[in-house]
Amino acid sequence: MSGLLFTPFQWGSLSLKNRLVMAPMCMYSANEEGHVQPFHLAHYPARAYGGVSLVIVEATAVESRGRISIHDLGIYDDAQLAGLHQLVSAVHHGGAKIAIQLAHAGKKSGDMSQEAISPSAIPFTPEHRMPRAMTKEDIQTVIHHFRLAAHRAQQAGFDGVEIHGAHGYLINQFLSPLTNHRTDEYGGSIENRTRFLIEILQAVSTEFHGAIWVRLSVEEYAEGGHHVEETLRMLDLIKPYVVGVNVSSGGAVPVSIQSYPGYQLGYAKAIETQGIPTIGGGLVTTYEQIEDALGQGISLIYLGRELLLNPYFYLQLVKKYHPLDMIAPYKRG
Ligand SMILES: Cc1cc2nc3c(=O)[nH]c(=O)nc-3n(C[C@H](O)[C@H](O)[C@H](O)COP(=O)(O)O)c2cc1C
Repeated sequence: MSGLLFTPFQWGSLSLKNRLVMAPMCMYSANEEGHVQPFHLAHYPARAYGGVSLVIVEATAVESRGRISIHDLGIYDDAQLAGLHQLVSAVHHGGAKIAIQLAHAGKKSGDMSQEAISPSAIPFTPEHRMPRAMTKEDIQTVIHHFRLAAHRAQQAGFDGVEIHGAHGYLINQFLSPLTNHRTDEYGGSIENRTRFLIEILQAVSTEFHGAIWVRLSVEEYAEGGHHVEETLRMLDLIKPYVVGVNVSSGGAVPVSIQSYPGYQLGYAKAIETQGIPTIGGGLVTTYEQIEDALGQGISLIYLGRELLLNPYFYLQLVKKYHPLDMIAPYKRG
């Protein structure tokens, strides 16, 4: 069967008009206060007008010391709300749903003026700075910031929240046995390493009433790190709190990743077989790849770099396969 890309999908409370999702991508274009700029109001709506069903806004910091770079978007201050609200309205006007990726970089923070925190005092590489191991009070503080961020996401009108649990950032630092050497209830067993993420999901769900899901690095490409089996065990614990998973890999420790077209789709498929919907992707650039992945049961497909190059990727396919629908994203009322 073909044409699956053009079919709608109900993901929790999210009604998506097709299967194409814009992956979250840091644009390093906010001012140092983390405010939405004219750039964002052109960049994200362009992909919405281009026909994607869901735009996931880049990693947006829940605390200023959790920024990946000092030009990340932020959601830690009420003064950031007006811009985020404008962004939501602009993407909605383009006909897409919009989610925000809530993030904390932990030891990978790019804000050198503030301390870096992590579950354990282990630098990313010997050349990187040494983070401070978090106390239990620090853990509660960060969870509180996620809660406040979720409250603001609700106020700004987002349709979904994606919790960034991948790529070696703070949550991933807790999840991975390679970066979490704690001996308290937040370290050791899979149950303990997943506790921080679960407490964040619980806090977020008290404030945000749309769809909530998590991005995970399903494979860590390192001895002693997570592989798909360990991720599936974690997902057993996480699944009551999420509508699904945005599937990614790597980033916990510095390893070179042998990527090839569709290299992460197998992980998405493995998660789907557990009855958990996923957004799969990674070096997906063609209609044939998308149809093949959807045909194998992956619920949604994300495109990252291809959409940076070509915001009209989807519309070009509509023109080819459903020319009469070309005008749909521009129709009003
Ligand atoms: C410029 C750039 C910024 C990115 N920023 C983020 C981010 O903020 N959050 C995230 O989870 N992934 C981020 N990623 C990873 C993408 O979401 C995506 O997983 C990756 O690019 C692979 O998909 P692709 O091959 O379609 O580009 C970023 C990727 C790029 C190229």
